[in-house]
Amino acid sequence: MKLILLGAPGAGKGTQAEIICEHLNIPAISTGNIIREALKNGTEMGLKAKSYMDEGKLVPDEVVIGIIKERLAKNDCQNGFILDGFPRTVPQAEALDEMGIIIDKVIDIEVADEKIEKRLSGRRVCEVCGASYHIDYKPSPNGDKCGKCDGNLIIRKDDKPETIRERLQVYHEQTEPLKDYYSKTGKLVIVEGQEEVADTTKLTLAALEA
Ligand code: AP5
Repeated sequence: MKLILLGAPGAGKGTQAEIICEHLNIPAISTGNIIREALKNGTEMGLKAKSYMDEGKLVPDEVVIGIIKERLAKNDCQNGFILDGFPRTVPQAEALDEMGIIIDKVIDIEVADEKIEKRLSGRRVCEVCGASYHIDYKPSPNGDKCGKCDGNLIIRKDDKPETIRERLQVYHEQTEPLKDYYSKTGKLVIVEGQEEVADTTKLTLAALEA
């Protein structure tokens, strides 16, 4: 199964990808996580991406396309994968097509802009392993420490209110046209994001089986 998760920043792509990848036993690939890891390791690519990311803008297409080509060539992608946060522009979707990759389904998780701000302002991530929590919807079982590795939970730099607004604008301008792109292929399924993570998972899994 080769899947794409579309949706605004904070729609729950990463949360659902983490759950679904266990169900399907395929890797979840987040370009955002790959870039953050590169930044943590001080690589040239990470440093190049930093200013775009901090300002809530998209990293240039050629950089992310390069990242995805390299990642999809790895052995664990042979039986399928979930793409979380890629493609995010029409040229990125075209690049995926040019790689000869046939996508089975594109799940678009829809959440209204008003709800996004609440979700992102309550998000906490582990500074060590990157695990993601929410102070109300998905609290860590370990208080202000990560439930997986005991690392400190921090607020992502791009989760400041003004950066969230910029990311939403970028989403509407550059990523939303992908709904049209994939709707034409007949592979787009819309899932209404629910208040509870588990309810969105139920709808997403049902969409995959349909
Ligand atoms: P990335 O890390 O991909 O961020 P994003 O798309 O903005 O998405 P988020 O991670 O913020 O949200 P999400 O939809 O995964 O939601 P989550 O599950 O965490 O990208 C960051 C940056 O990297 C970009 O801005 C760009 O600069 C660069 N980049 C990455 N890919 C790129 C590309 N292809 N091209 C160019 N640049 C690229 O959920 C959010 C919160 O809500 C969590 O706290 C969660 O616990 C909570 N939550 C989740 N589901 C629910 C629910 N159902 N109810 C209540 N709360 C929920």
